[in-house]
Amino acid sequence: MKMILLRKFRVLILMVFLIACSMHIMIDLLPKLERHGSTGCSCSHTPSEEPKSWGKQGWPNKHSLRILQDFSNEPSSNVSSHSLERVPVAGDKSQAFRRLDHQGQRGDRKRQFIQDAGVTKNVPAKGSRLSALYDHPLYKTSLPPLTDEDTLFNVNTDIRFDPKAAEDQAWAGESNIDEFSPTGELTADSYPNWLRFHIGINRYELYSRHNPVIDALLKDLATQRITSVAMKSGGTQLKLIMTFQNYGQALFKPMKQTREQETPPDFFYFSDFERHNAEIAAFHLDKILDFRRVPPVAGRLVNMTKEIRDVTRDKKLWRTFFISPANNVCFYGECSYYCSTEHALCGKPDQIEGSLAAFLPDLALAKRKTWRNPWRRSYHKRKKAEWEVDPDYCEEVKQTPPYDSGTRLLDIMDMTIFDFLMGNMDRHHYETFEKFGNETFIIHLDNGRGFGKHSHDELSILVPLTQCCRVRKSTHLRLQLLAKEEYKLSVLMAESLVRDRLSPILIQPHLDAMDRRLRQVLNVLSDCIEKEGYSYVVEDDLQGYQGTDHAHNGPRRR
Ligand SMILES: *[C@@H]1O[C@H](CO)[C@@H](O)[C@H](O)[C@H]1NC(C)=O
Ligand SMILES: *[C@@H]1O[C@H](CO)[C@@H](O)[C@H](O)[C@H]1NC(C)=O
Ligand SMILES: *[C@@H]1O[C@H](CO)[C@@H](O)[C@H](O)[C@H]1NC(C)=O
Repeated sequence: MKMILLRKFRVLILMVFLIACSMHIMIDLLPKLERHGSTGCSCSHTPSEEPKSWGKQGWPNKHSLRILQDFSNEPSSNVSSHSLERVPVAGDKSQAFRRLDHQGQRGDRKRQFIQDAGVTKNVPAKGSRLSALYDHPLYKTSLPPLTDEDTLFNVNTDIRFDPKAAEDQAWAGESNIDEFSPTGELTADSYPNWLRFHIGINRYELYSRHNPVIDALLKDLATQRITSVAMKSGGTQLKLIMTFQNYGQALFKPMKQTREQETPPDFFYFSDFERHNAEIAAFHLDKILDFRRVPPVAGRLVNMTKEIRDVTRDKKLWRTFFISPANNVCFYGECSYYCSTEHALCGKPDQIEGSLAAFLPDLALAKRKTWRNPWRRSYHKRKKAEWEVDPDYCEEVKQTPPYDSGTRLLDIMDMTIFDFLMGNMDRHHYETFEKFGNETFIIHLDNGRGFGKHSHDELSILVPLTQCCRVRKSTHLRLQLLAKEEYKLSVLMAESLVRDRLSPILIQPHLDAMDRRLRQVLNVLSDCIEKEGYSYVVEDDLQGYQGTDHAHNGPRRR
């Protein structure tokens, strides 16, 4: 009897315990379920919150700005654009544009401001060769008038396609704008510099000469607080995407070797290190050549602890940090080449040099087309490319669109000269902005494999020029100018590079090599002229666009 009672009692206790347990679980779960429910409808809250943050910060909120930028700065890799925090594209795109539009209804005026502002400001010191160069008439040619088809962003037309644009202007009402502009009139001045750089891009150039925005952007790259860091996926070597306080972004390439180290002779160009100083020097060289086809790059000394490890949300990157036996901070990240303890990037003791290249506009806003370089190298250790075995290869190229018309072939020649001067063999692809079709410049992206050897001139880089014997007259004249003793490319480069925080960027032998290579380019061209005649070799692109001091004003030839 007692036993039965005891058993019943035990069963009872067990039941009570079970009930208590399930009650606990229910109570625990309920709030979570509720919270879940509320995030589901948070979308309806955001629009009313946005104007507030807009008013406080002075520019559109994080998400809409982010979409204006591009996460992939390299041909054929748009992987990273998707791996990073992204919001639905269509909605944000139109919002970003609406905000742009709202700030300055007069897109044309804005554009003019950005292009003209430099004329008055930023007069360099007297006695500098660089300012003498930029004062030369060859550096004063003007662009044809720009229409909406010639600018990357024409804010107003894009708005017209959005029926909601008009009513939505109400949410960012006048009051907010008045807060930071008493007149209610906002100029492009209030945009962050990276955005002003994007708005200035047109069919003919990434940025205009003497543009004060570019100098300001270079300063931003070197000084703005870094708010987050992510690894760029898809590359062979480690690169970091850095986001700044003002939502600007840049591609960081860390220093991997000293400036004195030359590429080992047995290295294939495609396994060569990417050099941070080459990225910086390439930007300056491209500007001195007056191409203006390299996005702005600045050097920066980065605190690896504070500005990389502590701000990254990427666990994989974070985990690769360690302290070396010499007590330096090191990390190696993840990539397909050189990302291991043996190839770690180490600071001194916690500072590392690197290049920061400003991002181009996001691919969602400004698509780019990737083209194979007709003179691309065979990336096979034994196989040769067609151009290496066929001396008449250029004839074939000239008959193939888009090289059969327009300026594309001449652009390839410009790029060839640019690459030869810095010894860059790694130009397998190039990119253009899709909006401009085939009649636009080539973007000179990714120059980290230049300036590897100063004691060797790689003549194979010049093959497109020797095979085609074509050049723009403006390029030819500028090259002749830069070869003169009173200008001298190496001295101009040295003067330009002093402005970078990591100066000296190039050791003297690399500067001297550029003078030597420039003479070689001019020799190739004079041989061409002797063989084929001046009018065949030199394409006159200056007719009618000699600047304002030239009376003649005929149609531009392309
Ligand atoms: C970029 O991504 C899009 C969409 O994911 C894809 O269709 C396209 O082929 C990619 N482009 C390149 C060059 O990888
Ligand atoms: C780098 O940042 C760390 C952490 O904030 C700080 O302790 C260190 O002093 C900084 N290093 C230099 C050289 O400024
Ligand atoms: C641009 O070039 C491509 C060749 O890659 C060609 O198919 C296309 O028709 C060209 N477009 C124009 C407008 O000429």
